[in-house]
Amino acid sequence: MRLMLAPMEGVIDHTMRELLTSLGGVDRCVTEFVRVTDRLLPPKVFHRLCPELASGGRTSSGVPVYLQLLGGQASVLAENAARAAELGAPGIDLNFGCPAKTVNRSDGGSVILREPGRVHAITAAVRAAVPAHIPVTVKTRLGYEDQSLFLDIVRGIDAAGVDELTVHARTKRHGYRPPAYWEEIARAREVTRLPLIANGEIWNPADAMRCREITGCNDLMLGRGALCRPDLPRLVAGAATGDHPAPLRWEQVLPLLSHFFELNLAHYDACFAPNPLKQWLVYLRAHYFPAALLFEQVKRLRQPREIQLALRAAIADARRPAHSPATA
Ligand SMILES: Cc1cc2nc3c(=O)[nH]c(=O)nc-3n(C[C@H](O)[C@H](O)[C@H](O)COP(=O)(O)O)c2cc1C
Repeated sequence: MRLMLAPMEGVIDHTMRELLTSLGGVDRCVTEFVRVTDRLLPPKVFHRLCPELASGGRTSSGVPVYLQLLGGQASVLAENAARAAELGAPGIDLNFGCPAKTVNRSDGGSVILREPGRVHAITAAVRAAVPAHIPVTVKTRLGYEDQSLFLDIVRGIDAAGVDELTVHARTKRHGYRPPAYWEEIARAREVTRLPLIANGEIWNPADAMRCREITGCNDLMLGRGALCRPDLPRLVAGAATGDHPAPLRWEQVLPLLSHFFELNLAHYDACFAPNPLKQWLVYLRAHYFPAALLFEQVKRLRQPREIQLALRAAIADARRPAHSPATA
């Protein structure tokens, strides 16, 4: 089984990829999207979204990072895909899933799913422009308004000769509301032999096993679940082999938060560095109750020093034996 970390715009940037891949279990990541409109973008755009290009397109843990492209014009997407390949991207991923109004209004993301012929044309043009040894993968939803065109979409992607297809088992209209319609992914097998990667609503190892059973997919993609439980990829990988690693405890997550904050401080302006940490705490609190308390403590802090002190205090607090006089 392979486990992919889902692309998540504004959330899973290279600092988050660095951190999550260091915990094991992830076989591949994707960048945030490179928005392609009408021109060939300069190399700096690719390097900004994928600093891993400077190290062979891999995170420090050696996990490959595919470059995600989003747009509606086949020829320009193809040119940009070729450039990403030249710059050392280990793979190219095409996004046909983004439901954002601004993106859809300017002819990108899930709106293209209304026209399976265009999905095919874009995918085929990108495949043709990228050297054969570099994989081109596609991520799609089931459709735009409904799933009536899903099999046509899959046929078009299949005919384009790409390497893999990830299906987020919802339409654009479904947004991110549960459930995910895993059984629809199984239907795609009627029309393709492409490796299929199932995605959507996998929050724990039991979900992962059920999703594999229903979809018939070996491989899964994990998004929000891996942010709520950073060890989810490792737990899922363990469940698949019958080996059950101990889940991360909150006191083990705290040093990760601290490391994540330092990664952000090193890479972004100090005034922006607190935001990813606060955002991650919002995800973490779905699984770790103390994350909600820590979020309340840091949510109004702006200065890096204040955040560092709050994290240090939380770490010290978590290390204190439960019945010591200081916590009594
Ligand atoms: C904040 C956010 C940003 C996302 N950005 C992207 C993106 O850039 N490209 C993409 O293909 N999907 C994107 N997605 C969709 C996810 O990759 C994934 O398909 C979806 O969250 C369902 O998986 P999950 O239930 O495991 O989170 C995004 C989702 C969220 C919540």
